[in-house]
Amino acid sequence: MAKGISSVAMVEELGRAGMLGFFGAAGLPFAAVETAVNHLANVGFPCGFNLIHSPHEPDLEAALAQLYIRKGVRLVEASAFLALTLPLVRYRTHGIHRAADGSIIAPNRIIAKISREELAERFFSPPPEKFLRTLIEDGSITAEQAELAGQIPMAQEITAEADSGGHTDNRPAIALFPTIASLATRLELKFGYSVKLRVGLAGGIATPAAAAAAFAMGAAYIMTGSVNQACVESGTSDTVRRMLAETRQADVTMAPAADMFEMGVTVQVLKRGTMFPMRAAKLYEMYRAYDGIESIPAAEREKFEKTFFKATFADIWRDTRTFFLTRDPHQVERAERDEKHRMALVFRWYLGQAAHWAKDGDPSRTIDYQIWCGPAMGAFNEWAAGSFLASPEQRRVATVARNILFGAALMTRANILRYQNVRLPADFRVEPFEDTQIKEYFA
Ligand SMILES: Cc1cc2nc3c(=O)[nH]c(=O)nc-3n(C[C@H](O)[C@H](O)[C@H](O)COP(=O)(O)O)c2cc1C
Repeated sequence: MAKGISSVAMVEELGRAGMLGFFGAAGLPFAAVETAVNHLANVGFPCGFNLIHSPHEPDLEAALAQLYIRKGVRLVEASAFLALTLPLVRYRTHGIHRAADGSIIAPNRIIAKISREELAERFFSPPPEKFLRTLIEDGSITAEQAELAGQIPMAQEITAEADSGGHTDNRPAIALFPTIASLATRLELKFGYSVKLRVGLAGGIATPAAAAAAFAMGAAYIMTGSVNQACVESGTSDTVRRMLAETRQADVTMAPAADMFEMGVTVQVLKRGTMFPMRAAKLYEMYRAYDGIESIPAAEREKFEKTFFKATFADIWRDTRTFFLTRDPHQVERAERDEKHRMALVFRWYLGQAAHWAKDGDPSRTIDYQIWCGPAMGAFNEWAAGSFLASPEQRRVATVARNILFGAALMTRANILRYQNVRLPADFRVEPFEDTQIKEYFA
């Protein structure tokens, strides 16, 4: 989860419990990711880092991939990719070699998160030759290494992401998963890999029943997001955690995304207790309707300055300009000759800040909080109602995850009994367990 919401503390807690967490590197400055990498290096348990495709900031994507190579990060979760990129192929092929027994060892692993089969196909295929040629030419790999790279998939594991919090295609899990799983089987045969391709499932999973359903479909693993944000270790504010604990199934909606605002891309967010989705949608409408800030009628402009921004357009542009002068000066050049682009950057300022106000728990901006969240959150709250996990202070990420997995195992066993015509008690229900109860079960 972006901006360090999937925090170092969360990754550590999951790792110590034998689960895999990914640090939420997206949206963070390079230095903040480097600090997290240094912190999590050599921790002695599995962990990984997110690498999000950044079409607007290709240099940052390349710098992060290079950082992961330099620091020996062995597992990266690649997400939001629309196609494979050179930095990603460079990461995957770095250090590839043949072991004494003849097997191919690629020390850097990628777990790709996708929601479309075309992309799954690219990740389950070997790295494209054109990128391998470039890497040979720039001396990153040898011709022998390129030859080995041609025999392995870009990613051995793919997480099929169904309707989720944040960026999502809103695909139903039960439709998406079988397609990606069958693709894995086909491509394994086509390429004759010596390793098994595996498909995990994410999106909508926050209860034992959902996890049991994922495993029943053949998921190699499950991944959660929304429910983790509601846990004490997440890098968000207590106010957001309390809001998430009140969330019901239908309290989420799609709203314009800050990173791909101009393209009309949307993200799934919380709508209960915040006016962000409505306000962001209004800004997108204005962006479509006007050629620039000056074209917006004065009365309307004033309304936005007073209610949405609590600052003038001029002040926001000044701050935005300063920000981009260090981060990406090209944006400033473009905005100074293109009024529409300037308007987009100002509107994106609001969208970006709205996520920070939420994360920092700014009490003066509650109404503008942008909180990424999917329907899984409501499902979890309903399941946890009346138990210790109803309280946001009790939601420890490993306890929640263990409950989802343990509960899924119980439900699966109950289902096996049902198939054998065993009548279960009418009130059979899998309820949240304290950590000690789960430990006792296995003792
Ligand atoms: C607050 C939040 C931030 C997220 N940020 C990212 C991100 O930066 N990169 C990414 O690959 N996925 C991101 N996701 C998606 C999650 O990693 C995960 O795939 C998804 O939440 C799973 O679906 P669920 O929300 O239904 O549990 C985010 C999700 C949430 C809720």
